[in-house]
Amino acid sequence: MCGIIGYAGKNPAVLVLLEGLERLEYRGYDSAGVALIENGRIFVEKKVGKIRELIRSLWGKPLKATVGIGHTRWATHGEPCEINAHPHTDSTGEIAVVHNGIIENYRELKEKLQAQGIQFTSQTDTEVIAHLISLYYQGDLLEAVIKVVPELKGSYAFCVITSREPYRIVGVRYGNPLVVGIGDGENFVASDIPALLPFTRHIIPLSDGEIVDLRIDSVDIYDAEGNRIVKEAINVPWDIISAERGGFKHFMLKEIFEQPRTVGDTVKGYVSRDYLLPFNLRDFRRILILACGTSYHAGLVGSYWMNKYLQIPVEVMYASEFRYADVPVNERDLVIAISQSGETADTRYSAISAKEKGATVLSLVNVMGSALDRESDYTLYTHAGPEIGVAATKTFTSQLAVLYSLAVSHLPDRDRFMEKLSSVPHMMEEVLGEAEQIKKVALKYANRKNMLYLGRYLSYPVALEGALKLKEISYIHAEGYPAGEMKHGPIALIDENMPVLVVAPRDRVYEKVLSNIEEVLTRRGLVISVGFRDDETLTKVSKDKIGVPEVDEDLTPFLTVIPLQLFAYYIADHLGLDVDQPRNLAKTVTVE
Ligand code: F6R
Repeated sequence: MCGIIGYAGKNPAVLVLLEGLERLEYRGYDSAGVALIENGRIFVEKKVGKIRELIRSLWGKPLKATVGIGHTRWATHGEPCEINAHPHTDSTGEIAVVHNGIIENYRELKEKLQAQGIQFTSQTDTEVIAHLISLYYQGDLLEAVIKVVPELKGSYAFCVITSREPYRIVGVRYGNPLVVGIGDGENFVASDIPALLPFTRHIIPLSDGEIVDLRIDSVDIYDAEGNRIVKEAINVPWDIISAERGGFKHFMLKEIFEQPRTVGDTVKGYVSRDYLLPFNLRDFRRILILACGTSYHAGLVGSYWMNKYLQIPVEVMYASEFRYADVPVNERDLVIAISQSGETADTRYSAISAKEKGATVLSLVNVMGSALDRESDYTLYTHAGPEIGVAATKTFTSQLAVLYSLAVSHLPDRDRFMEKLSSVPHMMEEVLGEAEQIKKVALKYANRKNMLYLGRYLSYPVALEGALKLKEISYIHAEGYPAGEMKHGPIALIDENMPVLVVAPRDRVYEKVLSNIEEVLTRRGLVISVGFRDDETLTKVSKDKIGVPEVDEDLTPFLTVIPLQLFAYYIADHLGLDVDQPRNLAKTVTVE
């Protein structure tokens, strides 16, 4: 989704904004722009396409402004074009706004403003904000913003500057993320933390309804009524190196390779019980796991572990379905909301509604200070560091590590289980050591149009996750399915042109999965399997096989998912696609 960056300091703002924008690229965007207060006037430059287009058009311009705002746009209202790109200005050109989110009542506001003779230049919802602020402006930008906010409906974050007060940026968070960065004689505002890591690690995450008045040497935060609020900065433990590509061609590849370390880091805290929760999971009537996308797949894996070890009903639902499904929830339920970003609108609002119905909400998030973190009763962190590739990889396996630790947390021989979990990172290294062989297999299938991914029991969510990765970054249609369900429909798709990737570790359903493979072979489907290295039977029935070390059946997802991540990565890279920023996708989905 759109990304916002703002800077007020002593250095040339344009350099900070462009660096920040590059670090927001991963959120997904189609155009980018900046607004600077240059010699007492607002200077705006915007371009369709990549940030480098914007850099090219700014090249050689002697810009000295030390205050400015920047934006990456992911189109919602109005096609991607220069006119619709942000920043947007009011009719006088003295006020400039960047915005992330949706102003739901913008048509109504636009008509009202047009009736007063105000001319609009873009098709965006954002432009109403600039004109409204202009209408209410009487010499104090903060006051004008406080008057405008109650008029706006929807979920949004925006930042505004005016040439009439060239030393300040006013920012608002209402549903969409906005964080403030505190520097030394300079201050920042951005949609997320990685954009600020080159400049500061002292961060104040804003809560919904909060407004920041950011100046070169001060940061003041207000509630929606204009009352001052005192908020402490948190020190984020992430360093700038963790948000760099570090020699890898893409962030996604780097993040796949980071997994032994990130899972290791996550496990450490849980082995030592750093996280202790003030309740026993078995005291609840049931556990309901809510999440979207990859986090949902992690939740599915977690539900198998929890059903097995906690012996209480554990259900998993897409957060986007839960909200409108009349699911009975009460104070005897524990809701586990899983979200890498902690900002996914569907997950947040489901968690809030479950909490309102009396459930205890425990969230699993990767971003400290994110909205879900603050809105939940309890939070567990996944400690995976910043994930920049749009396709989630390392956060999936860290989520698994937390879920497994929770599932076994009450067992008398918990230490034995945690010891097994601690051996996983080493085995993940071994799988990564096979990357070249995985690449060879992947490239054989790079020109296929469709693929089926099958798995059963714990490998079923892994198959779903593998198919999601392939779709997202290579644009090849892939369907994940429970292997046992294939005969109830998808079997009709199988012929000599259909590659079928089967996740088949030697676990409790292994024999059944072998039978499913036979069903595929009988119809001349092409079987690619992911299973144990020494499994000769699987080798024989597969056209291509990717081996992983033998491991306890519980822990197979940690290993079998890696070949699937790499399989998708190598195909997308071979096809010359934008692996880290696939088309149409956003890293943080803040719209419902
Ligand atoms: C897939 C992917 C998405 C996210 C989903 C939820 O690779 O990245 O499907 O998993 O948008 O995001 P979070 O976990 O931030 O709530």
